[in-house]
Amino acid sequence: MILVPGGRGQLGHDLAALSSDVRALSSSDLDVTAVSAADLAGASAVINCAAYTAVDAAETDEDRAFAVNAVGPGLLAEACASLGIPLIHVSTDYVFSGDGTRPYEPSDPVGPKSAYGRTKLEGERRVLEAGGYVVRTAWVYGVQGSNFVKTMAALESTRPSLSVVDDQVGSPTWSHDLAAGLLELASVLPSTRLLHATGGGETTWFRFAQAIFEELGADPSRVHPCTTADFSRRAPRPAYSVLSGAVWEAAGLRPLPHWRSALAEAFKAGVVAPRTGAAPLE
Ligand SMILES: NC(=O)c1ccc[n+]([C@@H]2O[C@H](COP(=O)([O-])OP(=O)(O)OC[C@H]3O[C@@H](n4cnc5c(N)ncnc54)[C@H](OP(=O)(O)O)[C@@H]3O)[C@@H](O)[C@H]2O)c1
Repeated sequence: MILVPGGRGQLGHDLAALSSDVRALSSSDLDVTAVSAADLAGASAVINCAAYTAVDAAETDEDRAFAVNAVGPGLLAEACASLGIPLIHVSTDYVFSGDGTRPYEPSDPVGPKSAYGRTKLEGERRVLEAGGYVVRTAWVYGVQGSNFVKTMAALESTRPSLSVVDDQVGSPTWSHDLAAGLLELASVLPSTRLLHATGGGETTWFRFAQAIFEELGADPSRVHPCTTADFSRRAPRPAYSVLSGAVWEAAGLRPLPHWRSALAEAFKAGVVAPRTGAAPLE
């Protein structure tokens, strides 16, 4: 049985949907900030999806973010090591500065610019030190919880037009594809411990939003490009978040599908609930 702390989040939900061997745990079932080996009894592996993911809130709540993103993964890693079972821990592009111009390799220098990124980086360090796996991903969306795809779908139905940033580059990742990749990793258990897994290709939030409009059957020209400077956010966003999958593939793992075809599949799978009621504004 594969235990999944944070199992009620986007990614945990899809892990549970993909395998009957997965036991997804909510934070009240298992709080990673106070976990011990006894809590993992009977598990053959752990995939940690628990995280403090509120990037802006973390700027003023770094202690809590640190507890969930650094202390928790460290405790999980020690518990897994003591039981002799693998831990796969999910991390983020925010550990990089985002100043890059070519896809980041796992071995590239890190340099987080946000509290979220700093706490996730410390979580990585603790997991790797205890012999666990760290998989960095980015721009995740899925059927569970709130995410960019659902936000764009909601805005499409309520606004005639909208502006979306066109100067941040990354790779949208459907949580279903990432979940399948993590289950493959759990079965292969390669010798490489630090890996990247995102949807293939790259885009900007603006072009991603246009693609979402296309999937909705709406006119993508209703989405207009703007710059990061046009939006004031508490935590800085990485300008460049593309993660290279070369190490993932070299470890014998299947690359995740291209972000654009994945988006089409995600729509077919119902990532956005079909509309009922009022017609869209146009
Ligand atoms: N979303 C993205 O775009 C993105 C990008 C890069 C990396 N990641 C990483 O991918 C992983 C999964 O992200 P996600 O989008 O699935 O996150 P999510 O939807 O925000 O889910 C995170 C889950 O963590 C749980 N949690 C919070 N504190 C906990 C605690 N103390 N103990 C146990 N569980 C706790 C929450 O459970 P309850 O709801 O039960 O409280 C929540 O369901 C995270 O490591 C995240 O950092 C995400």
